[in-house]
This record gives sequence, C-alpha cells and structure tokens, in this order.
Amino acid sequence: MRKFFIHTMGCQMNEYDSLRIASVLEKMGFTEAESMEDGDYLIVNTCSVREKPQHKAESAIGRFRQIKRKRPEVKIGFCGCVAQQEGTDLLKNNKDIDFVVGTDGLHRLEEVIAHVEAGERLSDTQVNEGGLEIDIFSRTVSVSSFVTIMKGCDNFCSYCIVPYVRGRERSRTETEILDEVKYLADGGAKEITLLGQNVNSYGTTLESSPSFPELLNRVGEVNGIRRIRFVTSHPKDFSDGLIEVMRDNEKVCEYLHLPLQAGSDSVLKRMNRKYTYAHYLERVMRAKEMIPSLALSSDFIVGFPGETDEDFEATMKAINDIQYDMIFAFNYSTRPGTKAENFEDDVPLEVKKMRLSRLLDMQKKIISDKTAEYKDKVVEVMVEGSSKRGSGQFYGRNRQNRVVNFTSDTILDSGEFVNVKITDPKANSLTGIKL
Ligand code: SAH
Ligand code: SF4
Ligand code: F3S
Repeated sequence: MRKFFIHTMGCQMNEYDSLRIASVLEKMGFTEAESMEDGDYLIVNTCSVREKPQHKAESAIGRFRQIKRKRPEVKIGFCGCVAQQEGTDLLKNNKDIDFVVGTDGLHRLEEVIAHVEAGERLSDTQVNEGGLEIDIFSRTVSVSSFVTIMKGCDNFCSYCIVPYVRGRERSRTETEILDEVKYLADGGAKEITLLGQNVNSYGTTLESSPSFPELLNRVGEVNGIRRIRFVTSHPKDFSDGLIEVMRDNEKVCEYLHLPLQAGSDSVLKRMNRKYTYAHYLERVMRAKEMIPSLALSSDFIVGFPGETDEDFEATMKAINDIQYDMIFAFNYSTRPGTKAENFEDDVPLEVKKMRLSRLLDMQKKIISDKTAEYKDKVVEVMVEGSSKRGSGQFYGRNRQNRVVNFTSDTILDSGEFVNVKITDPKANSLTGIKL
C-alpha cells in the first residue's frame, strides 16, 4: 500500500486543508506514512504570511528532494498559500516538484493526482471566485476539531498577503457547516473551532444565512458538542450581539482572539485596519465587563513602515492596559503584491528586534502574574490525551484555552470533562490534580 506524508505550516486554515488533502488520498487508497522517509507522496502545505515561513517551505522541499534522490519513484507536492502565489514558476524552478495545487483547488486534487500517476507534472492554481467547494470529507475525528466556515478575506490590510492567496471572502452555507459539525459530533468531537479570517462578517456572501452569533447558537444545538471556539474576529466588526452570545451560550468558551496589530492610530490607519485604538479598547472593555472570566489574545506586528518610537510605545501601553492572556507578535515582513510593499521598510532590523524583545519581555511579566492567580483554583478541562501511556498523566485545555497537564488515579478517555485543581501554574502549562 502506498503512503503519503504531509508537512503543514501556517494557520488553522492550513491544518484543516491538510485534513482535506489526507481525505482525498485515503479515498484513492493511500495510507498515512509514519515518517517522511516512509512516504511515497511527500506534500508540503505552505504559508506565505511572512518571509520566514516561506523559506521554511523551501527547506522542506530540500528534505523531500534527498528522499527522492534515493527513491526516484517518490512524488513531491506543493500546496497552500505559497503554491497559490507562485504557481507554475515552482515547477519551472524546481524539477523535483511533481505537482502544485493552490488554495482553491483541493476539490480537484483527485484529478491532479491521477495526472501525476500518469507521469505528468502540473500546477493548478485556478481561483473559483463564485462558490466555495468544500465537501464534507471523511477524516479521523479529534475530540477538538476545526470547521472552516468561510474562505478568503476582503479586508486588504495593507501588509497582508492573505486576500491575494486565499481570494475573496466566501461563506459556506449553514447546512454545510451544521452537517459537518454533526458528522464530527457523531465521530466523538466535543469541541468545535469555527475558522475564518473575519468570522464576524460570516454570511455576507450568501443570499440568506444566520448571523455569526446565530450560527454559534445553532452549532451549540448539535448533540454532543460541549465547547465552541472561533478564530478570528476583526475588531471593526466585533459586535455586542457576539459578546451577548458568548455570555449567554454556555457552550461558547470564554476565550477571544482579537488582533490589535498596533497601538498607534497612525500606524493602524496605514495598516488599513479601519479602527482606532479607542474603538478597540471600548470593545475589549465591553467584552470583559460582560464576561468577567474572558481570556484575551492578540496579534502584533512590530516595525511596520514608519513606526516611530512613540508609535511603538503606544503598542506597549496598549498591551499593558489590556493585560492579554496570550500574544503572537512578529517583526513586519514585506509581502509581494501588498499595498505596504510600496511603503519604505524603514525600521532597521536591529530596532525591530529590540522592540519585539521588549514587547515579549513585558508580555512574559504579564502572563506570569496572571498565571500565578491560577494557584489552587479548580478548572474544567476537556481531556485531549495522555502524556505517557499508563502513567496517570493526562492533558487538555480549560475553557480559556490554557493547556493543563494533570494526574488522575483513574483512566480517562479523550473527550471526558473533568475538574482539575491547579497545583503548579506555569506560563506554558498549568499543572494539577484531577478532583
Ligand atoms: N485574519 C486574521 C489574521 C491572519 S494573518 C486577522 O485579521 O487578524 C495572522 C497574523 O499574521 C496577523 O494577525 C498579523 O499579525 C500577522 N501578519 C500578517 N501579515 C504580516 C506581515 N506582512 N508581516 C508580519 N506579520 C504579519
Ligand atoms: Fe489579512 Fe487583514 Fe484579512 Fe486578517 S483581516 S487576513 S490581517 S487582510
Ligand atoms: Fe499562512 Fe495562508 Fe494561513 S498565508 S497564515 S497559511 S491563510
């Protein structure tokens, strides 16, 4: 039996797409390889959001190539956002790549593989602006599973490549989404994370559809689903209606990822984020007031073109004011084809690095104070697995998305809900004992 190996980079959207790729290959009779060296089809699912992940894609191909040198029958596939961006150039520049499939071509993957089997090399980066072709696919269900509710993005933040590599925003119908959630729930999923670049605008491309807050309620009605999460919310569209559902629907977890990107209004304006810091702060305060146990996380870009010392201090102040539970921060990276590509990338790398490290140091301090508050608290954990078989060590997450490692004197199955008393809170995981 032939085997496939998929190396996934980038966001949850890519993780979801990798499951779709796996499902197509399984349908065609392949099985998943235990390691890269074992695979007959080696596939990389790539991210181009910054330069670094793009380089990582190239080095993954380098490793695949070494395997192909030993076993020339191996086929190499290049998928995802870099594939969408570079298309046939990848085939031209790299003789080891057998096929390239962009972000909108996964429903045609079976055809592509059939051509590859016949010895062809080909690239499919055709974009389907009309529909959204995600079939419900058979997959190994995890207790915590992702469901894509929309593709693409229409926001065109000036630094961001996503609208170019994922195309225009398109929503999946309510029926498709609920059918997929039911399929997952029947297979044992208890937690669903709904995915979209801007979930708040869910449904705008459909003739009739529930609003995003209504969709959350409908997902909550599916038998077996006990927790719902979602990413990402755009601050400009983060509504009271959504905060109310987060407060009132007990299945929706108290966790919100609301990317601020920068604390300075002039930077936000040049980023084309379409909100001010005052608007953002008002939204966050409202959410915290209505949901006191809310955990908040955010993304930041450091060293955006024209970012002055004062602009950066405004970001530091915002982080200190808001006291996030988690931050993802990166140096600005120029992306080809974006509006900011025409802005002068004028913050020297050394300055970017220094600002980023100051930002991360401050966040470390904030998170360490917040983490200390968990000492002796009891939290609800959904069991996601055991660390070492038979050792009585298990792990999962609490409702606020914190990883919890704990011991239990009884054997637990993935998907069980237990109460854990935290004995040793650490920033990257809380340690405790099952009550
Ligand atoms: N749709 C989501 C984010 C998608 S990209 C949103 O709007 O929040 C994930 C994160 O990557 C972004 O939030 C941003 O912080 C970061 N990012 C995107 N483009 C970038 C670039 N050119 N340089 C550095 N970071 C970038
Ligand atoms: Fe990129 Fe902005 Fe769209 Fe997020 S909202 S994916 S940052 S363009
Ligand atoms: Fe990267 Fe594409 Fe996601 S660029 S962040 S994998 S949408």
